[in-house]
Amino acid sequence: MTDCTLTRRSFLRSTASAALWSASGAPHVLSEPKRRIISTSPDKPFRILQITDIHFFGKEAELNDPLTQALIDGLVKHFPPDLIAVTGDFWCDNLDDKGLSCCKQCSLRIDGYGIPWLFAWGNHDEVSDRQKAHEILESMQHTLYSRGDGNGNYRVELQDEDTKKPLWQFYQLNTEKVGISTRETAWLKQECDSLPKTPGFIFCHIPIFQYNEIWESGVAQGVKFETVCNEEEKGAALPEIAQTDAVQAMFVGHDHVNDYSGVHSGVNLVYGRATGFGGYGADRVEKGGTLIELFPDRGTYSYLSVFPDGRTWKQKREG
Ligand SMILES: [Fe+2]
Repeated sequence: MTDCTLTRRSFLRSTASAALWSASGAPHVLSEPKRRIISTSPDKPFRILQITDIHFFGKEAELNDPLTQALIDGLVKHFPPDLIAVTGDFWCDNLDDKGLSCCKQCSLRIDGYGIPWLFAWGNHDEVSDRQKAHEILESMQHTLYSRGDGNGNYRVELQDEDTKKPLWQFYQLNTEKVGISTRETAWLKQECDSLPKTPGFIFCHIPIFQYNEIWESGVAQGVKFETVCNEEEKGAALPEIAQTDAVQAMFVGHDHVNDYSGVHSGVNLVYGRATGFGGYGADRVEKGGTLIELFPDRGTYSYLSVFPDGRTWKQKREG
């Protein structure tokens, strides 16, 4: 792990509660579990490093985990981010009932960079007790994770550090083993409806059905070496996501040898570059990460696949 004295934007976590009045006039205090806020200066680019499918504690972990850690060290060194987004398959199942221990060890490894980070659940992030896993993830010093709706769907707000105005929203969805379900889209709609109009990203693990369509139609740029594994999500989520009129892009993982993106229904569907040597695919697609650069004052963003020696790769159609 790198000796990290990186500069970064300030961030804060706060607990908030809201009081509402019912029809009978009695007050209801609604406890928001936690509000997650990170702040920046809107005239500077805000850098997010997406790492995905890390697969710590998998097969041959003694060999693979140090390689993966060194890779992340290199990414952080060459592309110092303001935020790290871990989009699932952080560890490998609940082997020997060690899921919670893996969750803690993985979290400590990323927390050690001293950079704010968030996490979206992947299908291999199995534990015997989800509540305890929420506690572990929420307890880290630099985490922005929240159990949110109780199931790990939560929002992080990027704010102007001076005016406190919201600049961008990050919605983390728990796709479990099945993909985005109506639980996630209903939660997303509720969140977006409750906010002043702000652009946002979804970070989640499993792609949606339309990742197939952007490739088949030729819209997508990048490389595709495997079938899109959208699991049980068959296309119903995107109209709901698009209807929020707030989500600019979604960043997923899951399929290690696909690294492409394209716009469908006004939403940019992006695969992040797979990161972990504990997962398949290093022989087809070089392991790395995805650097997302946000320009809050312009309302725009860009992204690149990045590698630990400082190289970058812009998604372009090959084959
Ligand atoms: Fe996965």
